[in-house]
Amino acid sequence: MIPPTALSTKLGRLHLPNPVLVASGTFGYAREMAGLVDFKKLGGIVPKTVTLNPRPGNPPPRTAETTSGLLNAIGLDNDGLEYFLQNHLPWLASTEVACPIVLNIAAKSADEFPRMAARVKGLPGIAALELNLSCPNVAGGIDFATKPDLCRAVVASARDACPDLPLLAKLTPNVTNIVEIAQGAADGGCDAVSLVNTFLGIAIDWRRKKPILGNGMGGLSGPAIKPLALRCVWQVARAVNIPIVGIGGIATIDDVMEFMVAGASAVQMGTVSFYDPTAATRVIDQLPEALATLGVSSVAQAIGLVSKTWHPAI
Ligand SMILES: Cc1cc2nc3c(=O)[nH]c(=O)nc-3n(C[C@H](O)[C@H](O)[C@H](O)COP(=O)(O)O)c2cc1C
Repeated sequence: MIPPTALSTKLGRLHLPNPVLVASGTFGYAREMAGLVDFKKLGGIVPKTVTLNPRPGNPPPRTAETTSGLLNAIGLDNDGLEYFLQNHLPWLASTEVACPIVLNIAAKSADEFPRMAARVKGLPGIAALELNLSCPNVAGGIDFATKPDLCRAVVASARDACPDLPLLAKLTPNVTNIVEIAQGAADGGCDAVSLVNTFLGIAIDWRRKKPILGNGMGGLSGPAIKPLALRCVWQVARAVNIPIVGIGGIATIDDVMEFMVAGASAVQMGTVSFYDPTAATRVIDQLPEALATLGVSSVAQAIGLVSKTWHPAI
């Protein structure tokens, strides 16, 4: 019998009761899910990205279903940081939710990250900050995680501005070498890297002779990207000494276990919440049995079990 404490996990300074969180942009500000999901069971909630100033987002249509996936180009539609702090954070921090809240922030320019980080410094109810360095649907937003030096500098500036909060750097998979970007983030002093945001894609309505999304291109998520995201986790786990949060197409307990043995210390579930909001709490219930099947007695023992030991046969 695996005790509940054996499900806990650590992302640098961030301690979570279990390794399953819900991903930014796919769970709203959680209020939308009240009545459907038992928040207290979750390893954490990452609310929709917040920016310094309100953003209207992209023109519709903003989503399009594809084979085994979802394309989106929301464009970081949100009401801005002050609105979030006044209207969403008090409820998220309340006993009604009672699970770790990881505030996800994005910025138009590098100096906005430390400004936002400084603003939330010391506020109760925020367990950690996740820097969205990787939104594919905003001009400029993607650039922070496509160059190792810039990534390092942005992470370091946010950490300096808010030294007490654990810091996660959410990276884009739309790069040639994710390992060097993750190394940049680690060098900047983040507690963990979140791998990954969506993969750039496009859907075209050839009869109407135009892209389906109002923005043209969008980001692909859901089961279609799972092997690609898993590969990113695998590569970084084998090369960089930094805890990893695995994200991308995770929908079942098998997916969670694959990401953990590939090197993820925690996972976030995204698109699945749109069609099955209870998926995250269900896999948490299934975790003890899966760990027993793996032959380990804690989450900690499962992390990197394959990526840290496997070598190709020669
Ligand atoms: C509709 C939609 C909106 C998203 N919005 C955000 C966002 O605001 N900030 C962010 O960091 N990631 C955002 N993401 C990316 C997800 O958090 C996640 O990284 C990605 O979808 C891959 O995980 P999944 O395949 O489980 O959905 C969004 C994804 C979707 C589908």
